[in-house]
Amino acid sequence: MAKQNDHFKKVIAHAKEYGYVFPSSEVYDGLSAVYDYGQNGVELKNNIREYWWKAMVQLHDNIVGIDAAIFMHPTTWKASGHVDAFNDPLIDNKDSKKRYRADVLVEDHVGKLDAKIEKEVAKAAKRFGDAFDKAQFLATNPRVLKYKEQGEKILKRLGRSLENEDLADVKRLIEELAIADPETGSRNWTDVKQFNLMFGTKLGASADSAMDLYLRPETAQGIFVNFLNVQKTGRMKIPFGIAQTGKAFRNEIVARQFIFRMREFEQMEMQFFIKPGTQKEWYDAWKETRLKWHHSLGMGEENYPFHDHEKLAHYADAACDIEFRFPFGFKELEGIHSRTDFDLSSHEKHSGKKLQYFDPEINESYTPYVLETSIGLDRMFLAVFSNSLTEETLEDGSARTVLKLPSVLAPTKVAVLPLVKKDGLPDVAKKIVEELKWDFKVIYDEKDAVGRRYRRQDANGTPFCITVDHQTLEDDTVTIRHRDTMEQDRIERSQVRGLVKDEVDIRSWFKKM
Ligand code: GAP
Repeated sequence: MAKQNDHFKKVIAHAKEYGYVFPSSEVYDGLSAVYDYGQNGVELKNNIREYWWKAMVQLHDNIVGIDAAIFMHPTTWKASGHVDAFNDPLIDNKDSKKRYRADVLVEDHVGKLDAKIEKEVAKAAKRFGDAFDKAQFLATNPRVLKYKEQGEKILKRLGRSLENEDLADVKRLIEELAIADPETGSRNWTDVKQFNLMFGTKLGASADSAMDLYLRPETAQGIFVNFLNVQKTGRMKIPFGIAQTGKAFRNEIVARQFIFRMREFEQMEMQFFIKPGTQKEWYDAWKETRLKWHHSLGMGEENYPFHDHEKLAHYADAACDIEFRFPFGFKELEGIHSRTDFDLSSHEKHSGKKLQYFDPEINESYTPYVLETSIGLDRMFLAVFSNSLTEETLEDGSARTVLKLPSVLAPTKVAVLPLVKKDGLPDVAKKIVEELKWDFKVIYDEKDAVGRRYRRQDANGTPFCITVDHQTLEDDTVTIRHRDTMEQDRIERSQVRGLVKDEVDIRSWFKKM
């Protein structure tokens, strides 16, 4: 756990030091759970968005994109269920005056049981060495089984109480488990209350006539209310999808863990409209498709378990998360939800307009069912960034910090470095920058010894360094250095573009799907 915290602290510090993520309005001491992306962060974020958009929209001839407004008619949120049901159960500590999500307090308690299981596994692995069979140990060790049973029982009761809106029982559970304020250790709790997560604002000039609006808490509803516009103008035939990326806003209570849980964040969502009755088949198909997308980035297939939802949202008949191994453990990265016809039917009811599809194959109209894939762009950023930040000890005993970003996502693809700042080497290096910059984001760096410049680019995540030296002047060759292996090859200058393209081209990464 201490090691995990340590890595997470390094991730946050590195993101700031290298211009990836800054606290918002930092000159005023920041704003809680709001962040700005710096000069490298914005490139990484754009590249992740593009990687998603191309996979979802460009590669699927039955998926199109839209960009709906953040402000929506307020009835949208009544129809979607957000006005009545987009709540978190909150509890205050009377001594510390701190506010917590009651369900998160309980889940963190279960997380401690999971940590105990991991500790037992680590101890046993050490004791038994090569003969250790983890699966058998997990299935038979009495202590592990006891922790597992305790955790399952607690989560089941929590799920039941939340589902039945029995907030008194959630408080009883917190008291029975003797859960204390994580910051002060106090157990002096208030009752559990529901708290709506939407941010309200006003539209209009005068206070009397102003209309109450919400900042959208998800991008999905912009897709539902445009379902017929897109279907008709695009002459789309079911099954088809509408994709969208954009900002969403939630007044999160437990807004910690850096960009994992923010108050203003970006989602990449796709609603796939299907014939009623086919939802199970599409649910399985989209689970597989999305998992392949994640795997294509090569960040370790073992890092993406599925987690089925026990407590389903008001709109879903099946739902799961694709989790990722974040520095603080496995947590939700993406949600896959079978949303039935809840949203379209509800918008029909509240608007009085038909949102149906005429299916020429069966000569009938129906309200389509929807399969949703929804991933947080910032959360994906954190997954990629935290997984890539590596500290290595080299053969000579020196340390190297390297950001092993998948090269397709790296903000800068190539750094061009003249070995020295004289003898015409900078001119040749600048010419190479000119040649490459039409295809890739390239930087020129001539400051400091070349070894230090390599380290700077390693920490920045730049996959390739091209070095121009005196031999370049004689035979027009350069060295290309690979970030992850630090290997250097001498190649013709004319080969650089093709070689880099092969490695960073989105097409070669998508081939892994
Ligand atoms: N339309 C469905 C929907 O919004 P969700 O599970 O609430 O479902 C989908 O959110 C994804 O959005 C999550 O898997 C997560 O990646 C991201 N997300 C949700 N809340 C977030 C927050 N406060 N900060 C950052 N990302 C968030």
